[in-house]
Amino acid sequence: MPIVWSAESQTFHLRNDRISYILRVLEHGALGQLYFGGALSEARSYAHLLRREFVGFSNRLGEPVPLEYPTPGSGDYRVPALVVEQADGSRVLDLRYASHRVFSGKPALTNLPSTYVEGYGEADTLEILLADVAADLEVRLYYTIFNDRPAIARHARIRNVGHSRLTIHCAMSVSLDLPDSDWEMLQLSGAWARERHLVVRPLQPGSASIGSLRGASSHHQNPFVALKRPSATEEAGEVYGFSLVYSGNFLAEAEVEPFGTSRVRLGIHPEGFLWALEPGSEFVTPEAIAAYSDAGLGGLTDAFASLFRDRLARGVWRNQPRPVLINNWEGTYFDFDEEKLLAIATSAKELGMELFVLDDGWFGQRDDDTTSLGDWVVNRAKLPDGLDGLARKVEALGMRFGLWIEPEMISRRSQLFSDHADWAVGVPSRARTEGRSQYVLDMSRHEVVDHLYNVLSEILGRSSISYVKWDMNRNITEPFSASLPADRQGEFMHRYILGVYELYERLTRAFPNILFESCAGGGGRFDPGMLAYAPQAWTSDDTDAIERLKIQWGTSLAYPISSMAAHVSAVPNHQVGRIVPLQTRAAVAFFGVLGYELDPTTLTDDDRALVADQVKYYKARREVFQGGRFLRLRSPFEGDGNETAWMTVSADRKRGVVGHYRVLNRPHPGPARLKLRGLDPAASYRVSVWPAGDDPIATANTGVRGGDELMKVGLVVSSEDPWDSRDRGDFGARLFDLEAEETSRRRTRP
Ligand code: DGJ
Repeated sequence: MPIVWSAESQTFHLRNDRISYILRVLEHGALGQLYFGGALSEARSYAHLLRREFVGFSNRLGEPVPLEYPTPGSGDYRVPALVVEQADGSRVLDLRYASHRVFSGKPALTNLPSTYVEGYGEADTLEILLADVAADLEVRLYYTIFNDRPAIARHARIRNVGHSRLTIHCAMSVSLDLPDSDWEMLQLSGAWARERHLVVRPLQPGSASIGSLRGASSHHQNPFVALKRPSATEEAGEVYGFSLVYSGNFLAEAEVEPFGTSRVRLGIHPEGFLWALEPGSEFVTPEAIAAYSDAGLGGLTDAFASLFRDRLARGVWRNQPRPVLINNWEGTYFDFDEEKLLAIATSAKELGMELFVLDDGWFGQRDDDTTSLGDWVVNRAKLPDGLDGLARKVEALGMRFGLWIEPEMISRRSQLFSDHADWAVGVPSRARTEGRSQYVLDMSRHEVVDHLYNVLSEILGRSSISYVKWDMNRNITEPFSASLPADRQGEFMHRYILGVYELYERLTRAFPNILFESCAGGGGRFDPGMLAYAPQAWTSDDTDAIERLKIQWGTSLAYPISSMAAHVSAVPNHQVGRIVPLQTRAAVAFFGVLGYELDPTTLTDDDRALVADQVKYYKARREVFQGGRFLRLRSPFEGDGNETAWMTVSADRKRGVVGHYRVLNRPHPGPARLKLRGLDPAASYRVSVWPAGDDPIATANTGVRGGDELMKVGLVVSSEDPWDSRDRGDFGARLFDLEAEETSRRRTRP
C-alpha cells in the first residue's frame, strides 16, 4: 500500500520503492512533518522521528516541531506557508488535523495545469483536512505519490467556512523542513538570450530565494530549485528537487534557522499578492512537485523529465515524433511576401524539412514591431491569397504549415486598441509603460479571453494549420485590472495567468491535432505550467551553438529534451555575431526538437548538402534525440567551460548518441577519455562518428565496443598528438552514434 495511516502512532507513511514521506498528527492536533527522503520500510513505526527544533521556545501549541503547512504567530518564526488575515485583522492561525481520506489516482486542479495519471493504479492520493475553528478556515492538503517515480505532487485548497471575508496573503504549494543545512541550492538563472544557466550556492543562515514578479515565470529565474549535498554529482549523492507547475509570479526560498535546520518553500510569490476569500469560496494553489534522488542530479533529471514528458504534457503530440521545421523569423524578419515564403518552403522541403512556420509579421500593418498586435487579420499586401492560400500551397509542397501568434498583447497602433483601450493592462490615472512598443491585454477579464478565443479559433479553423508558436514578448507593468474592485487588485497577477491557461485550454481542446509551442521572447516562460498545454517551448532567442551549450545544459536539469526547441541559424549569429561551423550548429540543435531558422535559398551548394545530411541524420535517430534518456557528461559550467559533453539513450538502451563539444581548439585540450553512462554493460555497441572522417579520433573510436568499456574506459575525445588538432579550429563538435549489435540467439532444443 503506497499510503498507510496508523491510528496508533497517528502517522501517515506515503511510500514507494524509491521514496518515503512521513507525517504525524501531533498531540495537540497540528500536522507535523517527520521525513522525506529515500524509501523506509513500511513495517516499522517512525513516530519517534519527531524533531524538537525551536530551542528556547515551544510554539503556542506546545509542539516545537516542523509543521507541515506552517503558519505565523505560533512560535515558529521561519517563513510561513500560509498567511491569512481574518476579519479582526489578526494573522495568527492554528491549523489542526480534522480528517483525511486516501484514494487511488490523482485529482485534477480546478483551472490550473497539473500532472495526471492515466489509470487509478498509477498513483495514490492523500487528502488531509486541517481546520482552524476560530478563523473559520479549512485547508485541504493533497499529496499524490506516483507508484514508480521518486516524486510527490502537492497542492492545497483553502476554504472560508465562515461568514466574513478572509484575505490570503501567502499560500505556498509546498513547504518542507530538512533536519540539517549541509546543502547547496541550485537554481536556473539568466536573462534574455542566456536563460537557465546553472547557479549553485551553499545555504547559509538566513534565507536564499529566487522568484519572479513580472507576471511570467521569466527569463531571469525558473520555477525550479534543487538542494544538493555539496559532494553530490551527476551520478551520486542526495538531491531534492522542487518544481512549480505555474507560469506566473513565483517564489522559491530556502531558509536556514539559527540551529541549522532548513526550510524550503515554493509557490505563488506573496509580494503584491492577495486573494479575497469570500464566505463559502475556495482558493487552489498551483501544484508543486517535490522529488528526491540519491543518484545525484542525473537521478533528479530522470524523475522530472519522464514525469513532465509523460504525465504533464498532454494531447496527441505528447509522444509523437515532432517535425523538423523551418521558421522564417531570422531568415526574413518582417520583410517577406508569399513568393519569398514559398521559395523558403520549397528549398526547405528539398532539404528534408517537414513543417514551414510563418513567424511574426503576417497580420495587420505589421512591418516592424511597433504596430498591429491584436489585429489578427491577414495582411493581403504580403499574402494576397490569405493564410489559407499560403497553407494550401505549402501543403502542396508536401510540408505542414505552422503559424506564429502573440495573443496576450496589444499594440497602441492597432484597431483593437482604438476599439478597446481599456482592455490593455494599466492604472487608469497613469501612463502605461510600453515594452517592445506594446501593451499587455488584461487576461483576467473573461471578455478578453472570449474575444481571443473567437478570433483565434476562426483563424485556426479556416486554414490548414498544424502548429502554433504562441509568443509573449513583454512583462506586465502597472498591474491593475479595470474589472477588479480596489480591495482585490492583489489578485490580478494570478488571475492573468488563469486567463492565459483558460485560453490555452480552450484552444488546445478545440484543435487537438495542432502542435503548440510556447515562447516568450525566447525562453521567458519555459515552465511546467506551459508544458501542460504546449509540449515544446522555444528554448531561447539565442541560437548561437556555443551559447546554447549552457542554455540547453541548464534547461535539461528539470525538463525533457522533447520540450526544447533548438534551431540551426545563419552565421554570423544574429545574437552574438559568432561564426560557428554549420556542423557544430546542428550537433547542438540535434539534442532537442530540431528546426532551422534561416533562409535556405541563400545557402551555398556545399552547405545545402550538409543541411540535407543533417536532417537525414536527425530523422534516422529522432526518437533517441527527442524521447531518449538525457545524461550530462561534461559540464560547460565547470572548470574553464571549454568542453561540454552529453548523451541521449533510448529506453531499451539499444541506441544512443553522444555529443562532445570544444569551444576553443587547444594543443593539449584536456582529458583524452570521455566515460559514458546509461548503457547496457553487457551489450556490444557499434560506434560511428559524425561528421564522418578519418582523423585520429574518428579512427580511434570507430568499431564495436562493449557497453562496460564505454562506461568504464570511455571514448577517445582528444588526440595525444597536439599536431592532430591543428586543422580543426575553434567551436568543434563531434557526435558518436551507438547502436547495440543484435546478440545471436541461442538455439533451444525442441
Ligand atoms: C520573439 C521570439 O522568441 C522570436 O522567435 C520571434 O518569434 C519574435 N518574437 C517575433 O516577434
